[in-house]
Amino acid sequence: MPKSQPNVAVIGATGAVGDVFLRVAAERRFPLSRLRLLATARSAGKQLHYGGESITVEETNEENLRGADLVFCSATSAASREWAPFITSQGAIMIDDGSAFRMQANVPLVIPEVNADDLAWEEGIISIPNCTTTPLAMALHAMRQVAPLKRVTVATYQATSGTGAAAVEELRSQLRAYGRGEPIPAPSVYPHQIAMNVIPQVDVFGEDGYTAEEAKMMNETRKILHLPELPFSATCVRVPTVIGHAEAVQVEFSSAAALNDIREALSKQPGVVVMDEPSKSIYPTPLNSEGDDRAFVGRLRLDPSVEFGLAFWVATDNLRKGAATNAIQIAEELIKRGRL
Ligand SMILES: NC(=O)c1ccc[n+]([C@@H]2O[C@H](COP(=O)([O-])OP(=O)(O)OC[C@H]3O[C@@H](n4cnc5c(N)ncnc54)[C@H](OP(=O)(O)O)[C@@H]3O)[C@@H](O)[C@H]2O)c1
Repeated sequence: MPKSQPNVAVIGATGAVGDVFLRVAAERRFPLSRLRLLATARSAGKQLHYGGESITVEETNEENLRGADLVFCSATSAASREWAPFITSQGAIMIDDGSAFRMQANVPLVIPEVNADDLAWEEGIISIPNCTTTPLAMALHAMRQVAPLKRVTVATYQATSGTGAAAVEELRSQLRAYGRGEPIPAPSVYPHQIAMNVIPQVDVFGEDGYTAEEAKMMNETRKILHLPELPFSATCVRVPTVIGHAEAVQVEFSSAAALNDIREALSKQPGVVVMDEPSKSIYPTPLNSEGDDRAFVGRLRLDPSVEFGLAFWVATDNLRKGAATNAIQIAEELIKRGRL
């Protein structure tokens, strides 16, 4: 029975995404009749704030998930896999921020401004894309209205909050030590010091030399755009920022795509903002994307190294549109469609 005020549970409420999720849900006045905040037993008893309310964090277990109509999961892949069967068995919908189900054939991978219609075939689990995939797919979706996509290459500049709260603390503690002229503490989250450095490794390496993050970006973009064969090569790099992922992208089209037509298509794309006045040093940066729910695109220029090429730059708040906001927008869309 569809409800317009679902009972909601959040798994991973104490994490980097969970924190932003609570803020975004309150800002958007997401309609809910009950909110349970779940994490591991370590966090049980902590108080979190939602709107003006203080809510006690509880351990994730069947008892605390029972009765939920909608579960947002932003924890770990293991937690998603562990709790999905129980959540769906009681007829609830799970919107999963992690990578556990993204490439599963019966799980829609959704950016509402791009492929909301994929929600029509959900069977209880809906995934949101990786935080680097989302802004790129939004920009590419706009551009393919002008000319078909032939090939994509991208290099990312990913903030530490993309790895979670512990990684942000690792950067902060290294910067504090650097500022005081003290020895920099050894890294425990990243394979190398992240302060004053960039690391060309996000997640683990596969046999083909690409990291899991790069594979996610390539495969997820193909799935969202319904272009399973799209040639795509990604290099994902961690940089010492806190919030906001940026990407340098080269696209090759199958036919001519005029710069003005690309700009117009981008400016019509919901959720995308063109920020592109290079002579005034106006272009997107991670800092300007922070706290905003849109993908900012700039540095648009033709790429003369191929026949129909374009280069651009995109920046987005990875915790908002890259995670929490996208998940909430999916739930809003489900309400609109009478599924919740
Ligand atoms: N950060 C991003 O930019 C981003 C973007 C898109 C998607 N995501 C995805 O969102 C998820 C969360 O990321 P995050 O950055 O928020 O990580 P995080 O800061 O490390 O937070 C992890 C959260 O999950 C909880 N948790 C861990 N294991 C659990 C378990 N077995 N059962 C229940 N809860 C468990 C933690 O609870 P405790 O506090 O009790 O340990 C914490 O609340 C990940 O799947 C990530 O891939 C993240």
